[in-house]
Amino acid sequence: MVKTKTVFVCQQCGHQAPKWQGQCPGCGEWNSLEETSLTISAGSKASSAKAKVLTFSQIESYEKARVKSNINELDRVLGGGIVPGSVVLLAGEPGIGKSTLLLQLSDSFANRSICYVCGEESPEQVKMRADRLGAKGEGLKLISAVDVDEIIIALSDFKKDNLVIIDSIQTLTTQDLTGTAGSIGQVRESASRLINFAKKNNMSMFLVGHVTKSGAIAGPKILEHAVDTVIYFEGDQYGQLRLLRSVKNRFGATGEVGVFMMTSSGLEPVDNPSKLFLSANQKPIAGVVKTVLLKGTRPLILEVQSLVTQTNMAYPRRLAKGMSRNKLELHVAVLQKHLKAPLFNQDVILNVAGGIKSEEPAIDLASCLAIWSSYNNKAIDPEAVVFGEIGLLGEIRPTSQEERRVAEAKRLGYKKIISSQNASSLLKAIKMLTGSK
Ligand code: TYD
Ligand code: MG
Repeated sequence: MVKTKTVFVCQQCGHQAPKWQGQCPGCGEWNSLEETSLTISAGSKASSAKAKVLTFSQIESYEKARVKSNINELDRVLGGGIVPGSVVLLAGEPGIGKSTLLLQLSDSFANRSICYVCGEESPEQVKMRADRLGAKGEGLKLISAVDVDEIIIALSDFKKDNLVIIDSIQTLTTQDLTGTAGSIGQVRESASRLINFAKKNNMSMFLVGHVTKSGAIAGPKILEHAVDTVIYFEGDQYGQLRLLRSVKNRFGATGEVGVFMMTSSGLEPVDNPSKLFLSANQKPIAGVVKTVLLKGTRPLILEVQSLVTQTNMAYPRRLAKGMSRNKLELHVAVLQKHLKAPLFNQDVILNVAGGIKSEEPAIDLASCLAIWSSYNNKAIDPEAVVFGEIGLLGEIRPTSQEERRVAEAKRLGYKKIISSQNASSLLKAIKMLTGSK
C-alpha cells in the first residue's frame, strides 16, 4: 500500500518539521520551510533486483530520433529539434508570447498528436487565439484541468502522443499537498510527477513557467535541475522583438538564441537577425559603434550606442542597458586614464540596441569607442565593425572565435574590421577609425 504524507523541509539545512514554522528550528533560517510529499510504501524492503548493465556500443543515440518542430528558430535553440522523451522548460515573463509560440508549434507539428493542457486559459480562449493565429489545430487535443494527478490519468490514454504542452506549471496542484497553486512545494511536486510520467512514456513535454520579477522561475530556480532543457523567452514586452535563449540543454549547446518578431498574426522567425539590429540610418553619427557578439553559436552584428553629457549632479551618472554597470565603470576608468578623457563630470549612458544583453568581453572595444565618440562628438566610420576585450592598460586583447565574427561581418559587407588582430590598443583603434589622433 502506498500512502502519501507531507512534511516541511528546510531548504537550507534539510531539517524536517511536521508543521510549517516561520523559523527553522535546525539552522535558524527564516522562511525556509517548504511542504514536500513523502511517499511511504508499507512493508518496503531493499530491492534485490539487479541493475541493468549496458554495452556502450549498443546504446542508441538520440540524435537520429530528433523531431523537427518546423519552426527553425526553435529547433536551433533546442539543438536541432525535439528529442523524444525530453522535458523542456519554457520560461518567460507573463505576456511575452509563450502560449503563442507553443500553439504555433502545435500547428506546425500538425501531423503528430499533441496534447495541450491549458490550466491558465479556458479551451475557448485557446481556440480564439488559434483562430487569430490562423492555426488549424489538427491533431490537437486540449485538457482543461489543474489537478496534476487527473491530468496524468488523462494523458495515459494518449500514450502515443508525441508532445505534451503544460501551460503553465504554476497553475497545477496536487491534492497531496496543502499549499496553493504556484507555491514552491506544489510547483516542484507537480513538475516532478509530470517529468516522471513523460520519461516513463517517452513523451516530449514542454512546461511553461512564469518568471517572477527577480528573474527566477517560480521563486528559486527550482525546476531547472529537474528538466533536460531550459529555454528563456525574453525581449521587450512593448517592442516586437522576442529572443529565445537556451540556458541549459542536455541535448545541445547552451547560449543559443532564436529570434522572433511578434506580429498581429503571431510570432514570425527572423532568419537574418544581424540586419534587424542595425538602424536604417547608416550616416556617420557620433556615439554609435557596430560590434559582433556571439549568441550561442551564432554571431550577431549589433549597435552599441552611447550618450555622454555634462552632469549637473555631484556624482555623474553611469547607466548601462544590455551590459553591466560595473563593466561601464571600468570602461570609463580606462578612457580617463589612457585616453585622457575627463569623464569625471560627464554622465555616461550606454545602450546595446535591440534589447540584447551581453557580458561578453568582446563588447568592450565597441563600448569604449562609443563613449569616446560621443564625448568627442566624432563619428566612427559606419562601415566598421569592432570587437575585442579591453585590458586595464587600454590594450585590445583577443576574444573567442574571432574567425566566426570576422566571417559574419564580411558576409554582411563590412570591410573594415578592427580587433586585436590589427590594433593593439584603444588609441590605435581610434586612429584607424577616425584618421585622427
Ligand atoms: P501570450 O502567448 O499569451 O503570452 P504568455 O503565454 O507568455 O503569457 O502572448 C501575449 C501577448 O502577445 C499579448 O499581449 C498579445 C500578443 N500577441 C500578438 O501581438 N499577436 C498575436 O498574434 C498573438 C496571439 C498575441
Ligand atoms: Mg500564456
